[in-house]
Amino acid sequence: MIGIGIIGLGTVGTGTYRILTEHAALIRKKTGLDLGVVRIAEIDPRNIKGKGIDRKVITSDAMELIRDERVNIVAELIGGMNPASDFIKAALSLKKQVVTANKALLAEKGDELFALARKTGCDIGFEASVCGGIPVIRAIRDGLVGNEFTYILGILNGTSNYILSRMTDEGISFGEALKNAQQEGYAEKDPTFDVEGIDAAHKLSILVRLAFSSPVTMNNITTHGISSIDPVDIGFARDFGYKIKLLAIAKKSASGIEARVEPAMIPLNHPMSSVNGVYNAVYIVGDRVGPNLFYGRGAGGEPTGSAVVSDIVDMAKRISHKIAAPAPGLIVSGKYREAKSSPVPYYLRVMAKDMPGVLSKISGILADYKISISAVTQQGRKLSGHVPVVMVTHDATEDGLKKAKQEIDGSSFTKGQSVHIRIEEGNS
Ligand code: HSE
Repeated sequence: MIGIGIIGLGTVGTGTYRILTEHAALIRKKTGLDLGVVRIAEIDPRNIKGKGIDRKVITSDAMELIRDERVNIVAELIGGMNPASDFIKAALSLKKQVVTANKALLAEKGDELFALARKTGCDIGFEASVCGGIPVIRAIRDGLVGNEFTYILGILNGTSNYILSRMTDEGISFGEALKNAQQEGYAEKDPTFDVEGIDAAHKLSILVRLAFSSPVTMNNITTHGISSIDPVDIGFARDFGYKIKLLAIAKKSASGIEARVEPAMIPLNHPMSSVNGVYNAVYIVGDRVGPNLFYGRGAGGEPTGSAVVSDIVDMAKRISHKIAAPAPGLIVSGKYREAKSSPVPYYLRVMAKDMPGVLSKISGILADYKISISAVTQQGRKLSGHVPVVMVTHDATEDGLKKAKQEIDGSSFTKGQSVHIRIEEGNS
């Protein structure tokens, strides 16, 4: 039997435990492997109660689990930086295989952990770190290995996608949608990581390393969240044929890599615009295979547990056939080459004075920055005498667009700050 130790019996730990125990016979039938959860480390008694777990299996000391000779594979499922990092290092030092769902830790300390794994001849499985149950890591690493990748588009954060979906469907504000998401258990009490794009950027850094073989760090990823999205712009986006999504975008070209996470508009007829609620998706373009789309549940105990189990089975196969661990997948050599932001169309909403000649003044400023308009609409009269002038530009640089916007906002014929949102046509 291959012994599994699970550190952390929260949502993902419990999902993993359930799959390994309830599907033990199924896994044996499919793989010939006999897997057993021999140890579980958990400090909170509330997480243990009512799950029918043999008390002898439980310990409150994760190091005891790691040292247990029956444990061949350690699943670190507590999240956060420390002590998760210490547990992984201790397990690797004792030549145990490690599986983790901890994207934040991998994004911040992946180099160090994978270097240790390489030194001790072990592996760190991280299928569960990106998009929960969607087997996108294995797809990029194995199924699509014969491809050079040029473009990744991801909806990598279920919480933000749920909030934006409700804002879109019900016309409610960000604050209200967040409150609903918290009440329904989809958003944390402190939602910063999810709604400010940090969680999605952690996941994008893992995808970029794998797909582009480039040592991207969080500092290389331009990151903006969804907290300032106004439902009014969601409505105008629909009128122009777009939906607003928190998109993780990575492009590789001769000039380098551009990686960003930000709310952006995607055409309504693009498959990514149908990814709603807590679902995640990755759209990735390989030079030989063309576009591939992966869709599924990006969070939750059993979907994420499903990915953890896939890594455990992979490692168990290697252990039972005495096959050495492959070179850890997130270590990439070379230098990261950051490309300038590529020109894209932008959505721009200006609150303008309702008087003759304003449109030509706005388009004049945009023209000074070589930005031309492809569509414009002026909707509804406001009591204050200011009306939203809403437009879509042709391809423009981010720098040019921001400068033009600053000049427009500083003029006497506008009020407050204009809003600009990137448009990602999704066919690069
Ligand atoms: N908090 C994440 C999300 C799930 O909302 O997608 C775990 O990665």
